[in-house]
Amino acid sequence: MLHADNAEIVKATAGPVIENITQITKVFYPKMFERNPDLLNVFNQANQAIGEQPIALASSIVAYAHHLLGDSDIDFDHVLSRIANKHVALAIKPGDYTIVGRNLMEAIGEVLGDAVTPEVARAWEEVYWLFAMDLVSAEAKLYQQIDRTPDSLMKDHRITRIEDAGGNARTFTLEPVDGSAIPDYVPGQYVSVIAQLEDDYRQPRQYTISSAPGDAALQITVKKVLGANGTPDGAVSGYLFERSEGDVLPVSAPVGDIEVAKDDHTRPLVMFSAGIGITPMASILDAAAQGRTNGRELVVVHADIDADTHPLREQVARTAADAGATAITYYEKGGDDAREGLVAVDELDLPDNAEYYLCGSVPFMQHVRSGLLDRGVDAADISYEIFGPDLWLGGSASSQASPEELVAEEQRLA
Ligand SMILES: Cc1cc2nc3c(=O)[nH]c(=O)nc-3n(C[C@H](O)[C@H](O)[C@H](O)COP(=O)(O)OP(=O)(O)OC[C@H]3O[C@@H](n4cnc5c(N)ncnc54)[C@H](O)[C@@H]3O)c2cc1C
Ligand code: HEM
Repeated sequence: MLHADNAEIVKATAGPVIENITQITKVFYPKMFERNPDLLNVFNQANQAIGEQPIALASSIVAYAHHLLGDSDIDFDHVLSRIANKHVALAIKPGDYTIVGRNLMEAIGEVLGDAVTPEVARAWEEVYWLFAMDLVSAEAKLYQQIDRTPDSLMKDHRITRIEDAGGNARTFTLEPVDGSAIPDYVPGQYVSVIAQLEDDYRQPRQYTISSAPGDAALQITVKKVLGANGTPDGAVSGYLFERSEGDVLPVSAPVGDIEVAKDDHTRPLVMFSAGIGITPMASILDAAAQGRTNGRELVVVHADIDADTHPLREQVARTAADAGATAITYYEKGGDDAREGLVAVDELDLPDNAEYYLCGSVPFMQHVRSGLLDRGVDAADISYEIFGPDLWLGGSASSQASPEELVAEEQRLA
């Protein structure tokens, strides 16, 4: 609970803080990296360059302030769990919160200048530390659940197989070098992989495990990201495409806040994916094909440009058939037994009382979500994964993507 005096100050100053939050993060990150250059190896530098991580951090703090003030209808447990899982995937430690807190408070002071009286600074410091304590305790629980610490999170894994997955993606099979078992995980969870890009520069990225739990190895399927209009090619996907069988990589224990695929869920599950967003669905279908999804009814609807851009097409067709799942494909360009055009949620024959899980670009998911809401689906039954910082806070977005946006986004991702 925010102290009553501080709550009044936060309410009164939320406006200027929100208006300037992007500017605040622009001062905060360079300051923090200059003082702690090792953090350049921890933060995704592409997200810094395109500004997505600063926006995600800023919007989460503003959302948390509203949550504390009791004037928000965002499901904050979901937001907290998503951030905590991401932090654990990156081996964030409680002590790191002091570094972030100090630099963030200094940045707020610098940007807002005289408006930041000692009282105002204290009020926002309290917001920061309440958020930090919620995150630290959620993260401590997660480290305990996966039986790792920040120092033992990563283990060297050997790439034992590299296969073409179609759609400009490759599937990498990874096995712990120390011969230990792969920890149990929920289908759809992800790992962090670390790429040593230069002698003194490494970068982590997250990849969803695209195979079922219970195997001696895990598999990830990575799409090669190509630059467009002068932007660089993807650093880590490019690095992974240059690896050979036998190479070794640090890989984290599996994490991720996917609830819908936990084994106590028995309602029908309807999955919608686009492009490389198929990877969590591939893991769920693989588990189903091995009889490990409670016999629940499964429907998978996938969208792509055409068969050539469709990753894991053969694996998913096989596991969906073995699992008795209904698989529906939409290709914008049609062909290969697919329906032609964009996913038309209103024309689908979907099971009653289902849960829904979405993974793909934000415009794709907005399009599907609003189609589901139009069909009368309860928003609480729709969850999603985003392959980048979540700028769609708590699933509260309701705007509908235009068909033009969808086509542009799918072509960008293909
Ligand atoms: C939970 C989660 C699960 C994921 N699962 C998968 C998965 O199963 N499979 C998969 O393939 N991916 C997955 N991803 C995405 C993955 O983590 C990476 O983001 C993706 O591989 C791109 O990383 P990269 O290093 O290759 O590209 P980056 O180097 O990170 O580049 C990303 C984009 O930023 C642009 N960019 C980089 N630097 C600049 C700059 N200076 N100026 C302008 N633009 C710039 C690049 O052109 C590119 O378009 C997942 C992500 C998350 C968060
Ligand atoms: C109260 C304090 C903090 C808040 C509110 C916060 C918030 C966030 C949010 C919203 C995200 C994006 C999650 C997503 O959608 O994927 C994120 C990711 C991340 N956070 Fe934090 N964070 C905090 C503290 C820290 C600390 C102490 C560190 C470590 C120095 C840290 C490092 C990271 C990293 C490395 C990522 C991944 C982002 C990327 O690589 O682009 N965070 N955090």
